[in-house]
Amino acid sequence: MDALPALTQQLDPFALYRSLRDESPVLFDAQRQAWNVFRYDDVQRVLSDHHVFSSQLAGSRGPGQGGLFASSLISTDPPRHRQLRSLVTQAFTPRAVDALAPRITEISDELLGRAAAAGEMDLIDDFAYPLPVIVIAELMGIPPEDRDRFRRWSDVVVSQTRAGAPAPAAGHSEAQEEMGHYFLDMIEHRRSDPGEDLISRLLAAQIEGEHLSVPELLGFCALLLVAGNETTTNLLGNAVLTFLERPHLVERLRADGDALPAAVEEVLRFRSPVQSMYRIAAQDVTLSGQQIPAGARLVAWIGSANHDERQFPAPEEFDIDRTPNRHLAFGQGIHFCLGAPLARLEARIALTALLRGLPGLALRSAEDLTRMDSSIVYGLKHLPVAWAT
Ligand code: HEM
Repeated sequence: MDALPALTQQLDPFALYRSLRDESPVLFDAQRQAWNVFRYDDVQRVLSDHHVFSSQLAGSRGPGQGGLFASSLISTDPPRHRQLRSLVTQAFTPRAVDALAPRITEISDELLGRAAAAGEMDLIDDFAYPLPVIVIAELMGIPPEDRDRFRRWSDVVVSQTRAGAPAPAAGHSEAQEEMGHYFLDMIEHRRSDPGEDLISRLLAAQIEGEHLSVPELLGFCALLLVAGNETTTNLLGNAVLTFLERPHLVERLRADGDALPAAVEEVLRFRSPVQSMYRIAAQDVTLSGQQIPAGARLVAWIGSANHDERQFPAPEEFDIDRTPNRHLAFGQGIHFCLGAPLARLEARIALTALLRGLPGLALRSAEDLTRMDSSIVYGLKHLPVAWAT
């Protein structure tokens, strides 16, 4: 195989990943000028060995990593990465995040309460999308009336993106520009009238006596918005799809709430919301026998690593009793997802509320399920569900 087949739009890219792992575990895609890495051990190494695989140089291209994101955590190497990350870790520790549980429960109940009498909804539009947006917007101190704009921006930024694509899709830079202007205004506003929110705290923060630069502040805002939204939306959507495809599992989860965290971990492995991440080789390196030159771009396929039979026995089986389950859905190493405790908490609260609050919950139509047009993000455009009223 000498070109990467289209991995977008496929609800089931996993058979294709398998043949790539077996036949071309490290594949150069000439069209996108990137080395694609498919096996668990290689993906793990690319994500975690930050001396050899830089995130910084990835900044010029790639969704979520170019433009506004160029000065953000995700596109920065040490030592700056460590300094920037230390400013926000406290806001996202499991303890800090647990304090948000009552508010997340309230938001989740409110969204379900609004839909309950109808007996049906689009799980994505009516529940899985608004929930994480409201949570992150409240953390950042963003007024409720501005939330709808976020959806368009983050949709454009993450969708229509292809792993390793040489240029972002149309509309991408306009969306980033609009988002940049919005956050610039917000930053100026908070400078003169600070509050308790994350943006005000970042404005006040100093590293070695210096405040963050404006591009760094913008990078934080944009990253939190995009990283905190679509990913969690897709975790919820992927979880509901996976559970409802398995009615016996729904029964088990309804009867035993303690089984839910393991089920969420298995969804993260089985249908990983982030399928791929970028790096740049900082030096010549060999992966699975393939030499990769310094300066080359790499795409680490998390979605494939999480289905690698070398790591996970019977990877195509959804098994909530799988132990260990060392999936790479949140990455690994210094860039390990900052929002993982928040995403896990939101998923636990939201899925418990759905399973308990909507008796007879079922897929309205298993046909016509389409994936978001992205090879980076794995999630559904819509997920129609119904329940007994
Ligand atoms: C980093 C996935 C939710 C904030 C990452 C990375 C992955 C990831 C794979 C590693 C990137 C890399 O190695 O280059 C996910 C998934 C989520 C999720 C699957 C939901 C299911 C969130 C949430 C937030 C968040 C809710 C914030 C509120 C971040 C940030 C980083 C990050 C700031 C960059 C960390 C760094 O570079 O040090 N995420 N994420 N994520 N995530 Fe998440």
